[in-house]
Amino acid sequence: MKINGVPYRSVWVDPTDHRTVCIFDQTRLPFALEILHLSSSEQVAHAIITMQVRGAPLIGAVAAYGLALALSVDASDEAMEREASMLAATRPTAINLRWAIERMLQKLRPINSQDRVAAAYAEAGLICDEDVAQNEAIGRHGLELIRNIKNRKKAGERINILTHCNAGWIATVDWGTALAPIYMAHDEGLDVHVWVDETRPRNQGAALTAWELGSHGVPHTVIVDNAGGHLMQHGQVDIVIVGTDRVTADGDVANKIGTYLKALAARDNDVPFWVALPSTTIDWRVQNGLTEIPIEERSPLEVTTVTGLNKEGRVEAVGITPEHSPAANPAFDVTPARLVTGLITERGCCDASAAGLRSLFPSTASQ
Ligand code: MRU
Repeated sequence: MKINGVPYRSVWVDPTDHRTVCIFDQTRLPFALEILHLSSSEQVAHAIITMQVRGAPLIGAVAAYGLALALSVDASDEAMEREASMLAATRPTAINLRWAIERMLQKLRPINSQDRVAAAYAEAGLICDEDVAQNEAIGRHGLELIRNIKNRKKAGERINILTHCNAGWIATVDWGTALAPIYMAHDEGLDVHVWVDETRPRNQGAALTAWELGSHGVPHTVIVDNAGGHLMQHGQVDIVIVGTDRVTADGDVANKIGTYLKALAARDNDVPFWVALPSTTIDWRVQNGLTEIPIEERSPLEVTTVTGLNKEGRVEAVGITPEHSPAANPAFDVTPARLVTGLITERGCCDASAAGLRSLFPSTASQ
């Protein structure tokens, strides 16, 4: 996507040394657009843990480059396995991270150590290119859903879409998942408007989704996380589209904390609830999301503080709770498949069910 007219992806290799990995520091957005240059696997791990990079597909892609960086220091079998485990352990819920590392290892294990670095950069580049193509395809399939809503509307009525967290281009290599159809709908002139859940505690909606949509000129309104149900009750939401960090083989959906409550409200109000994902987000090895998907617990400090820009223009966290009140911070929840209207994938839309996923991915689903 473009920033100030210049096309970017959210991760790239520095063209001056063909080694350093460049990302936007997402902890600085929307206040500052800063590019970080990562030159070791430790720096990559730190960027993922501290959420300088985030979003399921993006952390997979960046971790793949992290392994390439590690191999450029030591390309031995032992180092490769050790660094791969270290990178895979940086965040627990998004399956794309483990998927990308496993794919890298499968590619690199048979290759001798002299040739591994070049092969690792090439494979990480392929992962990125494929992510972009998959998200673009998700955009095209999701666009059909939005066009169908438009066809049922009266002339002049806008299409209201609610989204949670940030599943836009900076959560992937490009396009985004949930936001890809929205960008395409806006670009073809459909009158779309997005309700952006702020997404406490880290405010990925208020900070990142609002920044993305604003940069692209997409009309949007930031709302507190608890407003969605009210808007649905008053007919102000036509469709919910969210991303996901892991979908089980039976169609359960793990996504940012609060997604489940939106799905419940959507069901109660007959609002379609769609989940957009590349197939790299499907964990074919698990069926029951509630019992089989590990949910990341993050620091209580993210709950007891809010982060914003202070009077001096510095990004700062300020406390909002009594000093000794404990806080809990589960970062994701699981929406059972029965509450999901459907999944938007690069191969088209399907039911959130084993049969639905099998119909689009027959060979992978049967393995
Ligand atoms: O904790 P985050 O910010 O990495 O969580 C991101 C989300 O929950 C996204 O909705 C999900 O990764 C899909 S990204 C296309």
